[in-house]
Amino acid sequence: MMTTRGPVHIAPSILSADFARLGEEIQAIERGGADLVHVDVMDGHFVPNLTFGPPVIACARRTTSLEFDVHLMITNPERYIEAYVGAGADWLCVQAEVCPHLDRVIQQIRQAGAKPGVVLNPHTPPNVLDVVLEELHHVLVMTVNPGFGGQAFIPRVLPKIDYLRSRADTLGIDLRIEVDGGIKATTIASARSAGADVFVAGSAVFKSEDYAATISDLRARAAAAE
Ligand code: DX5
Ligand code: ZN
Repeated sequence: MMTTRGPVHIAPSILSADFARLGEEIQAIERGGADLVHVDVMDGHFVPNLTFGPPVIACARRTTSLEFDVHLMITNPERYIEAYVGAGADWLCVQAEVCPHLDRVIQQIRQAGAKPGVVLNPHTPPNVLDVVLEELHHVLVMTVNPGFGGQAFIPRVLPKIDYLRSRADTLGIDLRIEVDGGIKATTIASARSAGADVFVAGSAVFKSEDYAATISDLRARAAAAE
């Protein structure tokens, strides 16, 4: 019995939004019932793609009351934590693969005023978080290799979610476990069953005709997997 898995949260990723109308797109997902705005920051080094930085996020943040869930796909994230929190990151996560001093970065995020998270690439084992798990607000488990929207979900990652949820339950901590990559109608239930509670969906939402209908369909499919 999983005790700490929270209610289903749907977090559309603006990576697949129309950037020319970013404010309107964010307001459309807010009206459509989104719980969080997922924000993918890419630096062209850690991942082979570039997106945006703090000035764009600061402008976008002013268009909504939803929390911003900022996912840093950048090297040397410790140099930029305060800038992203200042721009409006409510949740802020760093990739484990680029943090030799992970415990220190987690403390830095918390001291800057955001909810700290760590992201695991598909190949990164979940036990790298054993010692820091109690310091985290969320863990983001990548279900694709980061860098692009619209990729296929990797089901081999699912046992990592189960591992993390079991550890959190053993420790008695209230940990959000988020999945990111290839989440859509046909994949969301398996991630929920493994123990996830926050679901990032980029192309599934923003490439659909009706954001509200898509968000509510994803939420219903996840809830049915309980
Ligand atoms: C990938 C990003 C994801 C991406 C997911 O590097 O971290 O957040 O937007 O996109 P979909 O949902 O289309 O797989
Ligand atoms: Zn992401």
